[in-house]
Amino acid sequence: MRRKVIVGNWKMYKTTREAVAFAEEFKMLFSGNEHEVGFCCPFTQITEFQKALAGTQVSVGAQNMHFEEEGAYTGEISAPMLSELKVDYCIIGHSERRQYFNETDESVNLKLKTAVKHHITPILCVGENLKQRDDGKEFSVVKEQLTEDLKDLKSGDISKFIIAYEPIWAIGTGRTASPEQAQEMCAFIRNTIKELYDEAVAYSVRIQYGGSVKPANAAELMTQADIDGALVGGASLKPEDFIKIIEYGG
Ligand code: PGA
Repeated sequence: MRRKVIVGNWKMYKTTREAVAFAEEFKMLFSGNEHEVGFCCPFTQITEFQKALAGTQVSVGAQNMHFEEEGAYTGEISAPMLSELKVDYCIIGHSERRQYFNETDESVNLKLKTAVKHHITPILCVGENLKQRDDGKEFSVVKEQLTEDLKDLKSGDISKFIIAYEPIWAIGTGRTASPEQAQEMCAFIRNTIKELYDEAVAYSVRIQYGGSVKPANAAELMTQADIDGALVGGASLKPEDFIKIIEYGG
């Protein structure tokens, strides 16, 4: 059985002081859980947030990294820098990075290779925009992203990946994919992994749904057969909301 993995994506929210205050509140509500739970916070918060969460088994990750291991890239953060902080994950290819920072499938592919080399588990984000869905192209768009993003990566690495299906039209819009739409695409992603690799890899890889996940819809989404967790933006910023999402199943 795949263990569910529920991760908060804090985007560019909270100062370190606010992150630590969040951790203190979160720890009082969090009773441990059968699910894997984590947060991808801004770089500047990682160390203090890890300290504040010590002893809880809550994972901490980053939201981006450069594909080069070092170099003259002002303002960037490398995989060795993240690995030194012992991050558990790094989100790679989030649609906001693709949209506002010109990330392409090619750069996503390079980042994934570097993450693997430094033992950082990627949370690879894929998903179509509204026009692509309206045009009936959502499956071909996601298939192309997966094929390009995972090019030359080995099956032994992919089985440890987390893939997040995040339809762009559902991110931060309050408009969630229906459980049927989310399940249909997550099953399609698993099948694409089977085509690109094999059945065992497709069975092991964990596939999250992301896009306006809230306490009210977490259960119906995460109980779908091919949905192994959630990547949660807005609703991960308040401890009480995120706790309700983690405890969706009781
Ligand atoms: P949202 O963001 O939950 O605020 O829609 C999800 C994400 O971008 O990962």
